[in-house]
Amino acid sequence: MKILAIESSCDETAAAVVEDGRKVISNIVATQVEEHKLYGGVVPEIASRRHAEAICGVVSEALEKAECTFDDIDAIGVTHAPGLIGALLVGVNFAKGLAMAKNKPIIPTHHLRSHIAANYLSNPELKPPFLCLVVSGGHSHIVKVDDYTKMTIIGKTRDDAAGEAFDKAARTMGMPYPGGIHLDIAAESGNPDSFALPRPRVSGSEYDFSFSGLKTAVINLIHNASQKGEELPINDLSASFRKAVVGCLVENFIKAAKDTESTRLVIAGGVSANRLLRKELTDKCKKLGYELYMPEKSLCGDNAAMVGSQAYYEFLSGNTAGSELNAKATMSIEL
Ligand code: KG4
Ligand code: ZN
Repeated sequence: MKILAIESSCDETAAAVVEDGRKVISNIVATQVEEHKLYGGVVPEIASRRHAEAICGVVSEALEKAECTFDDIDAIGVTHAPGLIGALLVGVNFAKGLAMAKNKPIIPTHHLRSHIAANYLSNPELKPPFLCLVVSGGHSHIVKVDDYTKMTIIGKTRDDAAGEAFDKAARTMGMPYPGGIHLDIAAESGNPDSFALPRPRVSGSEYDFSFSGLKTAVINLIHNASQKGEELPINDLSASFRKAVVGCLVENFIKAAKDTESTRLVIAGGVSANRLLRKELTDKCKKLGYELYMPEKSLCGDNAAMVGSQAYYEFLSGNTAGSELNAKATMSIEL
């Protein structure tokens, strides 16, 4: 089964053709990052406008690269939630128009479920059940994935998402948007023990995260130094911050794995590209004898190939929609 997949939840306009949920035939991503960089973050109105301008060309290119016409496509998968509402609406309405014109079913697909599905593309042998750490710019969840379309959140952030914390700390250090990757690279040559940063604890659920205190601690350090006319060593501060965030993620994830007796672990979302997170989890899982699966780096961020993968499994579960389909800014991964 060939699915044409469309993604427009944030600042990437993307389209892909994916076969049977596992084989990427084409994968096109048009990023708007350079424009949003000017404002230090995504400007929702600009994002919607750029999606509307790009979507026709991106979808045509995905079909061309796949050497497909609409006759070869069996269904259209589209991200309908969660995300920026104006941005999502561009993809959803485009998919609805195509589906009506070409008489194809539409498969509404949850953005975070798609991030998890990136792993089915990078790891052909991977099948649920597993425990997944989903860490993106908008969410940080520990999710029990019982089946392709059946999942339960067992931990989440109480405030900022991990990616958001990385981006805000990086921005204060003068790095361009999105700062996560720049902070990660700077941290590689820094000393992670130079700054003592708080290790936030959350009362209530032992698997929940909180990153806003950590982010504020870094912002305060930088502001205090600049008031005194001092300059902080950015590489050392990046390394200390990265160690603190990754420490929280790994600690809670491994505790959740032990408590739920999950020995197959998976990571997903933009932050799953983080070098230290990948290394620490690789080391920990090796020691514990756990299986660890990660998306290849090119599939960690937003793309439509992952949408095409998840859409296939949603289709098998009977989750299709008609012209009543609407976009939603928020929606639980559990549905
Ligand atoms: O999943 P994603 O592409 O978009 C959302 O669905 O939010 O995640 C984007 C987030 C951004 O906050 C970005 O800075 C972060 O992932 N990110 C990273 C790295 N690469 C991307 N954070 C830390 N280290 C990285 N290497
Ligand atoms: Zn995403």
